[in-house]
Amino acid sequence: MEDSEAKAIESVRQHLKRSRGLDISGYSSTFVLRSLRKRVGRSRANDLPDYLRLVRSSEEETTEFIGALSINVTDFFRDAGAFEALSEKVIRPVIKSKVGTGGIVRIWSAGCATGQELYTLAMCLEQELRRTGNMENIIGTVTGGDLSKSAIAFARKGVYTKEQVKNVPPQLLLEYFDERDEKYEVGDRLRRRVRFVNEDLLSEPVSRFFDIVVCRNVLIYFSRTMHDQVVMNLHRSLRPNGYLMLGRTESLLGSPRLHYDLMDAENRIFKKKE
Ligand SMILES: C[S@@+](CC[C@H](N)C(=O)[O-])C[C@H]1O[C@@H](n2cnc3c(N)ncnc32)[C@H](O)[C@@H]1O
Repeated sequence: MEDSEAKAIESVRQHLKRSRGLDISGYSSTFVLRSLRKRVGRSRANDLPDYLRLVRSSEEETTEFIGALSINVTDFFRDAGAFEALSEKVIRPVIKSKVGTGGIVRIWSAGCATGQELYTLAMCLEQELRRTGNMENIIGTVTGGDLSKSAIAFARKGVYTKEQVKNVPPQLLLEYFDERDEKYEVGDRLRRRVRFVNEDLLSEPVSRFFDIVVCRNVLIYFSRTMHDQVVMNLHRSLRPNGYLMLGRTESLLGSPRLHYDLMDAENRIFKKKE
């Protein structure tokens, strides 16, 4: 790799970190360079230095570049360790705190895309309700929201290919999905726990008093100003001391950060201050 290419990669990394709070230091240099070249070919830039100028000055091109990194994908149990941490450190204590209060545990999957994250959360919640012996006395629900109507329609349908469910542990696949014609359809047990909304995270939140908000790999699409607005909207939708989980590469930026305590840096889990 040439010196100028290494510098271009470093420059775009810093730009994404500064402008979107997106940390791509874990991505290989070859991969980032390939994505840069892809955008040089498809944008109005003539060469790499020209493209760097463009991406640094344009919100739109920054979003296109993130798209070229193919981060706009989703999966069941995406970053499996993160959901393990969420189950143990957040879902379990939240359930325990509701025992004897006739309480409801409410989780919001904000930017749930085609539903994989939403159903992952529903499975984690069910497992923890069972593990703590609270299946009967505590109600647990997961609300999935997304700006894209077609993504929500897909999520509501809840039918996935074998390839799409490959990260669902076999025993959970057996327990929560019905296999039909080589497709996997979400079964009634999970369906009873989930609901869907078509919503824009930039607008005033419709639902409030969530115990847990999971908003992963969504903030990266927003500019700094919009990032702050969304983080404060998520804050409003949480009950006091509620929890927020972001994606592995995301961080809270600027002043909204002051409204949360960092709880688990590796898994990007934060706790709302009172
Ligand atoms: C990369 S996907 C993330 C899916 C899932 N959270 C995950 O981590 O696997 C980003 C999702 O954010 C949604 N999104 C983008 N802007 C949004 C907005 N303003 N309000 C709500 N959802 C938005 C997109 O439609 C897309 O489905």
